[in-house]
Amino acid sequence: MEFKFKKQIFGFMDLLRFKNMTKVRREKLASAPSTPLPKTYRVNEVAKILHPGNQNAVLKQITLDTEDTKTYTFELSKPMFFRAGQYVTVRCEADGGLVSRPYAVSSSPYQALKENKLSVTVKKAGFFSDWLFDNAKEGDAFTIGDPSGDFCFDSVRDRKNVVGIAGGSGITPFYSMAQALKEGSEDFNLTVIYGARTEKDIIFKSALESLCGNKVKVVYVLSDEKKEGYEHGFITAEIIEKYAGKEFSVMMCGPSVMYDFAKKELAKLGISGKYVRTEANCCGLRDVKHAEYEIKVHIKDECAVVKANSEETVLTAMERAGLKVPAKCRAGGCGFCHSKLLKGEFSIAGADKRRLADKKFGYIHPCCSYPDSDMEIIVPQG
Ligand code: FES
Repeated sequence: MEFKFKKQIFGFMDLLRFKNMTKVRREKLASAPSTPLPKTYRVNEVAKILHPGNQNAVLKQITLDTEDTKTYTFELSKPMFFRAGQYVTVRCEADGGLVSRPYAVSSSPYQALKENKLSVTVKKAGFFSDWLFDNAKEGDAFTIGDPSGDFCFDSVRDRKNVVGIAGGSGITPFYSMAQALKEGSEDFNLTVIYGARTEKDIIFKSALESLCGNKVKVVYVLSDEKKEGYEHGFITAEIIEKYAGKEFSVMMCGPSVMYDFAKKELAKLGISGKYVRTEANCCGLRDVKHAEYEIKVHIKDECAVVKANSEETVLTAMERAGLKVPAKCRAGGCGFCHSKLLKGEFSIAGADKRRLADKKFGYIHPCCSYPDSDMEIIVPQG
């Protein structure tokens, strides 16, 4: 057996220290200053600014950008920190139910942090966007969620030169990035290749041009119109090569058809997939034969049966029924709506982004799942 002489000595010392502990503590407490501890620390204050959670906001201004696009500027109740390119969830009461939708922020990070102002730009398409377009008015109350998403520049992941491929209202995050570059809160080179049908469909044209300079370039590509000063057609490999230079990362925001087309063009240029990122699109209505189903929803100790149809997502059906359910990206990416499927058949919009464990243990994302039969699910509380 090993002789542990040293340990025994230290063990003895520990016993002595233990014996004196109460006395030492009492002395320290007696000699401590009587000033109360601060109620808050700087680090907590910073954390509150960085993560404000849901906050109340008042719609201050509505600007008509094009025939079917409007910019909504909100006055936030608290300052907000976000990275240019991120989205926020806009929520309000509409048609008797609580509805929400994520929108990319179109204003600059500086405005949200220093002036409590934040804008989103909305194209009239889909239930909530239609409702906003036709009904929202200045002075209305909304709830704005935490900024989310990773559609922003990352110096570890992205090359210093970024080509932003935008389609229609997909210009929104790039407009925010261009403002951030001008303000100095971001540092990379951005070339935006912006596809629109005609000149009058271009959003933020004069504002974008005022931001052009060393770090920001904008190229317009019109598909339905030939005009001097504009490229014509679609965003092809030739156009990308002409304006992008040699080494670059690509960020794309626009309709899915644009992604499919642009990815093929980028492949011709030999751009590796790791340098190409696309912003997820919200799952809307799907084009299938109409069928009606019932979804039994368990939320905490409550249970409700909601009517659903084959064209809409499970999330939309629950919201339409007035249930408070969690949602952020509405595209199967953030995991916020992660729910346990007890029974039923469903289809997923686009690629199945669930983890292997989710598939194995029967979890779904109601935001991108469409019912194919009656279903029963357990949903986290919203
Ligand atoms: S809301 Fe993001 S995964 Fe469903």
